[in-house]
Amino acid sequence: MHKNRAFLKNSNQNKIDISRSKQKRGIAPPIQKPCDPQDKKISLVSPGTWKTISAISLESAIRNRKSRRVYTEKSISLENLSFLLWATQGMRKTKSKHNNFRTVPSAGCRHAIETYIAAFRVEGIEKGIYRYLPMSHELVEVAKYNNLETLINRSTLNQIFCTRGALTFIWTTIPERMEWQYAEASYKAIALDTGHICQNLYLACEAIGAGACALASYDQELIDNVIGLSGDEEFTIYLASVGYTYHSSEVKTLNLKEIPAEKRWDMLLAHISLLVSEITGGKNMTMNTTQALDLNQGFYDMGINDNLCIKFYKSLKKSLDCQFPFTILFKYPTVKQLSIYLAKEIFKDLDGFEKIQALIPHKNNSSIEKDVEQLSEMEAEDALLNELEYLDSVDDQNPEFNFSVAH
Ligand SMILES: Cc1cc2nc3c(=O)[nH]c(=O)nc-3n(C[C@H](O)[C@H](O)[C@H](O)COP(=O)(O)O)c2cc1C
Repeated sequence: MHKNRAFLKNSNQNKIDISRSKQKRGIAPPIQKPCDPQDKKISLVSPGTWKTISAISLESAIRNRKSRRVYTEKSISLENLSFLLWATQGMRKTKSKHNNFRTVPSAGCRHAIETYIAAFRVEGIEKGIYRYLPMSHELVEVAKYNNLETLINRSTLNQIFCTRGALTFIWTTIPERMEWQYAEASYKAIALDTGHICQNLYLACEAIGAGACALASYDQELIDNVIGLSGDEEFTIYLASVGYTYHSSEVKTLNLKEIPAEKRWDMLLAHISLLVSEITGGKNMTMNTTQALDLNQGFYDMGINDNLCIKFYKSLKKSLDCQFPFTILFKYPTVKQLSIYLAKEIFKDLDGFEKIQALIPHKNNSSIEKDVEQLSEMEAEDALLNELEYLDSVDDQNPEFNFSVAH
């Protein structure tokens, strides 16, 4: 048997002398990593006062849960973030010095995990790294970076979809907290504990119309550096990206007349993105985890060949219940360009066109061109580096997608 498999077995536990653990010497490590009283804290929305968390059934959360890697550009509200943090690490009983019961189980109730978030788009808080304080249900500011997206992209080995979400969870462990009780038997327990946490995140995301994707592929040293850890007493163990998603049940056939005017553009974009993902067999979402659906990528480069193009055209016409020439797929060959064209064509016959015209982007520029105009010099440089890294990663790591890089 491979020697590392022993880690998963309990037979070892008989040989571990728990009586030598620090617990027997009475020195308990703190149940939450302390922070400086000077550190900036952010109050979260308390459990029981939430207004926007929908009461979906547990059955549907479990049934619909999957790893979701395609996210809309929507920011997450502080209330929804509060819910996710509570669902993954929140305190279950009223505050007391000795209470450490949380919304997830933990071996010996040791809870040797700390939760950090890389917040890209959270309403009411600036982009940065924060840590969750379960005892007081607050966030504490850890670090601010202008190039947070670049750092997280690099730290997650260019799994670009992470930074297209609203935030990324980063779970670290402080092994001493578990070792205090379980000595060498701690490591399996820590890994099991982290799995419970991430599963709660997956299910809680379903309740807020968002999606999560677990990540165990990451650069240990880099991510520890980003959150300011030396990597010895505390280090990263697991991550998960989170963002609002396009749910297929919402957009399979799209009756735009029944959708409120201000939501039509988002729904059309979601609908076309979903059709593209389906037509390419999820290729642009799941086959290669470094790829999320790129709204500015050419259909051909996404693998939509002539045959698939006909299939795509037919399902577009049928699901939108409208007529347009086949050639528009060549004239407007990206999700974004096609959506803008169709929005103008379809919406003009619907009520409220004037109102929603402002919501439809006017330019067909790539995101980088569009954003650069609004950025400071430093931010623009970061954004360009980000984009170049993305293209490099497409080039180096994904021979399958090599042809997609425009020369
Ligand atoms: C421990 C673990 C590590 C994972 N690491 C990654 C990862 O680094 N990147 C990724 O895209 N998905 C990752 N995933 C998600 C899996 O690919 C996904 O769970 C699997 O394909 C099954 O799909 P489902 O979650 O939709 O059921 C991970 C999942 C687990 C449980």
